[in-house]
Amino acid sequence: MSSGTGLTAGAAALGRSGAPILEARNLTKRYRLGNRDVDALRGVSLSVRRGEFVALMGPSGSGKSTLLQLLGGLDRPTEGEVVLDGEVVSHLSDGQATRLRREKTGFVFQFFNLIPLLDVYENVALPFTIAGVDPRRGDAAARIHEVLELVDLLGRERNRPSQLSAGEQQRVALARALVGKPAILLADEPTGNLDYATGGEILDELWRSCDELGQTIVLVTHDARAAAHADRVLVVGDGRIRDEIVLGRRANRDARPLIDRLAQLGL
Ligand SMILES: Nc1ncnc2c1ncn2[C@@H]1O[C@H](COP(=O)(O)OP(=O)(O)O)[C@@H](O)[C@H]1O
Ligand SMILES: [Mg+2]
Repeated sequence: MSSGTGLTAGAAALGRSGAPILEARNLTKRYRLGNRDVDALRGVSLSVRRGEFVALMGPSGSGKSTLLQLLGGLDRPTEGEVVLDGEVVSHLSDGQATRLRREKTGFVFQFFNLIPLLDVYENVALPFTIAGVDPRRGDAAARIHEVLELVDLLGRERNRPSQLSAGEQQRVALARALVGKPAILLADEPTGNLDYATGGEILDELWRSCDELGQTIVLVTHDARAAAHADRVLVVGDGRIRDEIVLGRRANRDARPLIDRLAQLGL
């Protein structure tokens, strides 16, 4: 099934399970670059339902990262609205928006953004530390243990990032993003800096967190193999959503059906 607009993509998601956990309504984003305007987004509407794994796929410069930043409240749109778990982000003050983002979202980026002077435990504990919660006690300590187990890093708590492989560093970043049980995990090219096999492991971990724990995920990628882990792929081009490809939840995450659909669409 394909559609020309994000609006239809949103309607399809809505039909399956009531209120979406994340919605974009006619988002535009215009950057000022020197004395020139860049229209990074030209009217994007989409909807993600709870527990869904959605990939935003498109070429470099198509607006994927801009869209993810708006969805996660890291930046504000020029026009349009983001609704995150029932809250219209543009109606909030900067302080309220920051609080909502900290409570509801976890981010993973291409470059792992770990703090070099902190060890694995301290990096994963950062969201608790920022919130003024002692990460060595009680529920916080139990949750940190749980996510370190999930990403298979128990026993590495005292290592600094420089003492880890790239794949292990990205697993630390993933654990940190998940530790606060975010309503939504937002990942921007999380395998872009990893070799093929290691990237595959990270994608499998993302997929398992969705399939086993019900984690909602929005993954940005230019790579069809990565996007094939999603239930649904929104194809981004030139600041718009060009098509929707529904793959469904598949244990094998085979990229072939997606590649075939993209070829049919001339992409
Ligand atoms: N901070 C910025 N200032 C000016 N232009 C930007 C900025 N961020 C992104 N852009 C431009 O917006 C467009 C979309 O960028 P981006 O969202 O990063 O695309 P993608 O993630 O798909 O590669 C590109 O033309 C890019 O150069
Ligand atoms: Mg990008």
